[in-house]
Amino acid sequence: MSSSIPVITIDGPSGVGKGTLAQFLVQKTGFHLLDSGAIYRALAFGAVKAEIALDDVAKLVALASALPVKFVDTSIIYEGEDITSQVRTEEVAGVASTIAVIPDVRAALLARQKAFAMLPGLIADGRDMGTVVFPNADIKLYLTASAEIRAERRVKQLKTQGVSANIDQITRDIEARDERDLNRKTAPLRPADDATVIDTSHLDIDAVCQTVLSLVKKQALIA
Ligand code: DC
Repeated sequence: MSSSIPVITIDGPSGVGKGTLAQFLVQKTGFHLLDSGAIYRALAFGAVKAEIALDDVAKLVALASALPVKFVDTSIIYEGEDITSQVRTEEVAGVASTIAVIPDVRAALLARQKAFAMLPGLIADGRDMGTVVFPNADIKLYLTASAEIRAERRVKQLKTQGVSANIDQITRDIEARDERDLNRKTAPLRPADDATVIDTSHLDIDAVCQTVLSLVKKQALIA
C-alpha cells in the first residue's frame, strides 16, 4: 500500500465464505472491517424505501452520495432504524446487485469505501476491493466455489436460522446474481492480477482461515 495503512482485500461471489474469513481476520489482526456489500444492500434498502425506480440513475446517485447509513459495531443503522437483518434477504441482495451495475452509483460510493482504511489496518470484503477500491492492497484474496456448493451452504445456513429454503430457487438466485456481478461493464467481479485465488469448494472454512492466516503472518502484517 502506498500509504502506511495495511489493507487486506477479500473478493469473490456470494456465499463463498468471504464474510466468515473477514470476521476471522478482524479478530486475529484487530483491523477495521469494510463490508462493502452491506453498503450496496443499504443503498438497495434505501432505494426501495424511497420508492426510487431501479433505473432512475440521477436519484440513485443522489441517494448513494449522501447515504444515511451508519455501521455501529455489527449493526447497520439506516436513518436511525436497525436494518441489519432486513438487508440480509435474497430480495435486497438482488436489488443491490441490480443497482451495482450503474457506473455512477459505484463512483458515488467509492470515497466512502476508501475512508474505511484507517490504522491499524483494514479487511475489505466485496467484489472489486482488490481491483478498484484498494488496488495497492498488501494482500489480495479471491475466494471461489461452484454455484451448487454455495447454494447448499446457504440452505444449511438458513436452516440453522429456522428458515426453510428451496435449493433450486436459491441456486437460480445465486446464478442470476453471479451473472450480473461478473458481466457488468464497470468493476466486474474478477480476481486482481496479483490476487491469491482460493477455491473453497472442497475446503472447510477453518482450513481457508488458517491458510490465509499463514499468508498474513508471512507478509509480516501481524506478528
Ligand atoms: O456481498 P453481498 O452479497 O452483501 O453483496 C450484495 C450485492 O452488492 C452483490 O451481489 C453485488 C453488490 N456489490 C458490488 O457490486 N460490489 C461490492 N464491492 C460489494 C457488493
